[in-house]
Amino acid sequence: MAYEFIQVRTEGGKVGVITLNRPKQLNALNNELMDELGAAMKAFDADAAIGCMVLTGSEKAFAAGADIGAMASYTFADVYKGDYITRNWETIRTIRKPVIAAVSGFAPGGGCELAMMCDFIIAADNAKFGQPEIKLGIIPGAGGTQRLPRAVGKAKAMDLALTGRMMDATEAERAGLVSRIVPLDKLMDEALGAALMICDYSQLAVLAAKESINRAFESGLADGVMFERRLFHALFATADQKEGMDAFVNKRKAQFKHQ
Ligand code: CAA
Repeated sequence: MAYEFIQVRTEGGKVGVITLNRPKQLNALNNELMDELGAAMKAFDADAAIGCMVLTGSEKAFAAGADIGAMASYTFADVYKGDYITRNWETIRTIRKPVIAAVSGFAPGGGCELAMMCDFIIAADNAKFGQPEIKLGIIPGAGGTQRLPRAVGKAKAMDLALTGRMMDATEAERAGLVSRIVPLDKLMDEALGAALMICDYSQLAVLAAKESINRAFESGLADGVMFERRLFHALFATADQKEGMDAFVNKRKAQFKHQ
């Protein structure tokens, strides 16, 4: 499928790589781009050859947020009836395979929210995160007031959303938003390396790990642990569990068949 606002490719036949591609607008996220992004992610999710995805932007901007030019004239009726954000951004929540955000440059507003909708964030040392919507007379609208405090705690989430200041990669890693920081020129190597590693594990275990960790944000501890325990037990019914443990016991590399 041909896309206008994103570029799509595969790496090693296993990793789906999606690059946001509205350079003149610093990858500002309009409805058309988000429709394309959802379609591309769903296609990779449905492709049996693909085990993991990497979402990235340009060196200067992962994404400079939702498209302010497009939003400027929206009325309440437009956004409410059109189900703005929910209609297409939320597609990302339905993706079952892991999605790594490889973030360089600016990631304010919807850019930060999009990165947080991915499963983890690897940041280049020039990355900048924030929720500056307050400067536009609005609040974060793609999950920022919910996912940011879960990632960095209330104090820093309030600070960022109420002052509109940006935080650099070091602060973002210290606060727990970002899992790793790498030099800008190593960003894609690092993200693709992690993605290829994930692809080689049992896909059943990978899907279960993602589903179970996401459950931690939706349930109380006892329910979440029970959910984990049931998935953990279920994995003993897979050939990959037998393979992984036999390989360990016999000091060889496991060859998972995703069954
Ligand atoms: N929407 C539309 N266009 C944008 C944009 C955005 N979010 N961010 C940048 N652009 C455009 C600029 O208008 C500019 O276009 P022109 O060349 O035609 O003037 C071009 O991208 C380059 O931007 P700048 O000249 O501003 O670049 P800079 O390097 O000086 O600054 C920046 C970079 C600090 C990221 C700055 O562009 C900026 O502050 N952007 C807006 C960030 C923002 O407020 N994001 C939140 C949006 S609201 C939101 O996301 C709601 C939600 O929760 C869903």
